[in-house]
Amino acid sequence: MSTEPPRSRFITFEGIEGTGKSTQIERLARALERAGQSVLVTREPGGTALGRRLRALLLEPTERPMHPWVELLLYTADRAQHLSEVVLPARERGVVVLCDRYVDATLAYQGHARGLGFEAVLALHRSPPLDTRPERTLLLDMDAATSLSRARRRNTSSPESAGEGRFEAEELDFHERVREGYLELARRDPHRIVRIDASAGVAQVGRDVIDALRDLFPALEHGS
Ligand code: TYD
Repeated sequence: MSTEPPRSRFITFEGIEGTGKSTQIERLARALERAGQSVLVTREPGGTALGRRLRALLLEPTERPMHPWVELLLYTADRAQHLSEVVLPARERGVVVLCDRYVDATLAYQGHARGLGFEAVLALHRSPPLDTRPERTLLLDMDAATSLSRARRRNTSSPESAGEGRFEAEELDFHERVREGYLELARRDPHRIVRIDASAGVAQVGRDVIDALRDLFPALEHGS
């Protein structure tokens, strides 16, 4: 086993629902630990105590539609708290931070799919702590119809996701727009955002994730 000096990096995972982000984050966390890194796995929304309250507000189905600006501001509020309370202190300690969703989710969902535009989102992310950018973003990409049916199966079978169905309940064309938003972001920022084919099977996707991070962590090895 090879190791290397701890090096703080901020790595984010993105993709529409049901693309397997959490499975891949856990696999990567173990591979990084084997390579000698300390790792923190976190997520948005809900990476802090305040964020968990915002997450419940954001994901519970509502009787009346939530205005897109309210969504944008609540996700951004969650992020400001998460950055200042969790992500930035971990970076100071030399920890690798793996985050399930970050600003690209806001750009794809609220900016693109809800129609507020990328600029409305970017304008809120120009000063600290919200101007923090990940070194690499792994976009797990797959066809929206397939990923959505996976996400819906998970939501009906897992008590953890019960009551969080507001986005899964959106029509297929909403998720297709989210995917389109993500692919546009990857085209605009190809060095940071790496698109990975999420339909390739857990082990192959895991290898692709590691290959996409090799320049940042030369000691990272493929797991079993
Ligand atoms: P979550 O259960 O964390 O996502 P996943 O289905 O990937 O496990 O739910 C988060 C939901 O919030 C998801 O539907 C995407 C949405 N979202 C936004 O619309 N904007 C954002 O900025 C973020 C972070 C998430």
